[in-house]
Amino acid sequence: MQMNSTERTSIGVPNLDKLMEGGLPKKTINLVSGSCGTGKSILALHFIYHGAKYLNEPGVYVTLEEEPEELIKNMKLFGWDVDELIETKKIVVIKPEIYKFDSLKQIINDTISKIGAKRIVIDPYSVLIGYFSDMYMLRNGLVHLDHDIKKLDCTALIISDIKDGSDILSASGLEEYIVDGVIVLYLMKKPIYPFEAFRALSIRKMRSTHHPLDLYPFEITEQGIKIDGRTLEEMQNSSP
Ligand SMILES: Nc1ncnc2c1ncn2[C@@H]1O[C@H](COP(=O)(O)OP(=O)(O)O)[C@@H](O)[C@H]1O
Ligand SMILES: [Mg+2]
Repeated sequence: MQMNSTERTSIGVPNLDKLMEGGLPKKTINLVSGSCGTGKSILALHFIYHGAKYLNEPGVYVTLEEEPEELIKNMKLFGWDVDELIETKKIVVIKPEIYKFDSLKQIINDTISKIGAKRIVIDPYSVLIGYFSDMYMLRNGLVHLDHDIKKLDCTALIISDIKDGSDILSASGLEEYIVDGVIVLYLMKKPIYPFEAFRALSIRKMRSTHHPLDLYPFEITEQGIKIDGRTLEEMQNSSP
């Protein structure tokens, strides 16, 4: 196999890294798409915590819906020692009041520069769609954001809320084409042997990466996301 020299960084969930040749390619923008309650914010919290705690990659979590306190509480519930990371600005959680996309972009740029962030989350990105008057402006805005984040040497997760069962992976149907990677989270409500209801994810797109397209079941536990690393099919075949 040919060596892939792409620089990568852990997404913060061990068996998930394995599905993407060891991690997210650095300086990429990755969409995390799924309907409500699928675990998008929790995955993004893993990404921010892991980078700050273990990789000396400070992170900015821009929350546009949930309160920062709620997200911080969530991390503590998983048993993560975030207080010191927040005090030393290895993790910054902000909820900016936004009226214009440009001012949000400015806040993001300033915060990244101030703490030397290497990771950024925008959760959810979908609420920003309303700030653009048309698709052309939206595309333009996205391309600029993409450019800024890469220039600032950051790896990004942008979160997209989609409706249950939707084929479109983002609010505008446009983001998925511009970003470098797309991870889709599902909540399967219908029983599929050997599971009743279950959570699963798949990597839909990842630039410079040889990745599977299969469905990988996962759980959200008291310690956060646990992914077995076997496909649904492999788990079905190994069940008694
Ligand atoms: N401590 C926990 N233990 C087990 N499951 C949890 C815990 N915290 C959250 N969850 C599960 O995660 C879901 C929320 O995940 P979240 O990442 O906020 O979803 P979203 O995709 O809407 O951002 C909850 O509905 C719950 O099922
Ligand atoms: Mg969320």
